[in-house]
Amino acid sequence: MSLHASVQALPPGVATLDDHEARARSVLDDNAWAYFSGGAADGITLRANRAAWDALSLLPRVLQPLAGGHTRVQLLGRALPHPILVAPVAYQRLAHPDGELATALAASAQGAGLVLSTQSSMLLEEVARAIAGDAQRGPLWFQLYLQADRGVTRELVRRAEEAGYEALVLTVDAPVNGARDAERRAGFRLPPGIAAVNLPPPATVLAGSLFEGLLATSPTWGDVEWLQSFTRLPVLLKGILHPADARQAAGLGLAGVVVSNHGGRTLDTAPGTAAMLPRIADAVGGALPLLVDGGIRRGTDVLKAIALGASAVLVGRPAVWGLANAGAVGVAHVLRLLRDELEIAMALCGVATLDKLPSDLLLSGEWAAARR
Ligand SMILES: Cc1cc2nc3c(=O)[nH]c(=O)nc-3n(C[C@H](O)[C@H](O)[C@H](O)COP(=O)(O)O)c2cc1C
Repeated sequence: MSLHASVQALPPGVATLDDHEARARSVLDDNAWAYFSGGAADGITLRANRAAWDALSLLPRVLQPLAGGHTRVQLLGRALPHPILVAPVAYQRLAHPDGELATALAASAQGAGLVLSTQSSMLLEEVARAIAGDAQRGPLWFQLYLQADRGVTRELVRRAEEAGYEALVLTVDAPVNGARDAERRAGFRLPPGIAAVNLPPPATVLAGSLFEGLLATSPTWGDVEWLQSFTRLPVLLKGILHPADARQAAGLGLAGVVVSNHGGRTLDTAPGTAAMLPRIADAVGGALPLLVDGGIRRGTDVLKAIALGASAVLVGRPAVWGLANAGAVGVAHVLRLLRDELEIAMALCGVATLDKLPSDLLLSGEWAAARR
């Protein structure tokens, strides 16, 4: 499959991720905008994600040696050029006809990892094939939602393994959708031709209470062990906020944890991820790598995340904004901006590498309290 708009130009005047968002608002229709931008319920967690990064101050040192500096990190046994991955986001053809394929090519060109959603609107094999041969690409991971039918889950895992995905990211914070009020107000519908093409057609929606219907088969820790028992891929858990859950994940020998509240789309009033990351880092004490997402919009946010104990970060909506604005070129631009901003932030803080950040790089009452 080829790209519809592979030489699409960037719109003028777009210099930041927030500019991409503002521009995407004018490109996307109300239906798609409600789906991609919305948070659950009152948007308290959506805003808390941003507020938690903003509440942290970076305390710079001057006159530090910066020659030979770089943004490289180690993750799951691989050296990556920088710690930025693209988060799994469903139905990307709703943002642009090139969908997940464009996002994958852009991530690959920027050496960024890509996590493909179970609800991808393009075949997982097609996306993997497009970037498999690129020696400079970042990790290619598959995000898994456990399906009510274990046979369907097994088949998805088998396909992901065979297609060359290098890890499974099991999302555990969404046994049901959050209260998606913005979508309901907009009367959100997937347009014809856009679907979760890697899954069998959805079963008829069950009537009655959630607990009698959907939740009768909702995943548990036992299902995590079941998944580990048959996949040869490392498994990460995505959607962890409680330090005890992170400890339990470490105890099960999981390959990593993504500290996430699903970009504020599931439980509204859950805390911002930057507020929980240091507590989780303390709880697991380096037993497994931590990743974090939610509201990361600036290179300074990436640096703060690493300083709080993350090995890498993921961005969700910003990639979609880039995709809507200019297809693959737009996603690549978003990732490039973040990389460049990260380098600027490091240089201005007086840190040359990400592996030995000074313990006093961050100023935050809450952080200090969490460390005591
Ligand atoms: C429109 C949309 C769809 C998403 N779809 C998925 C998904 O299919 N699987 C998943 O694990 N997370 C999904 N997420 C959550 C993202 O992976 C990620 O956790 C979140 O977007 C990070 O916050 P940010 O958008 O502020 O960067 C989705 C997020 C958005 C905005």
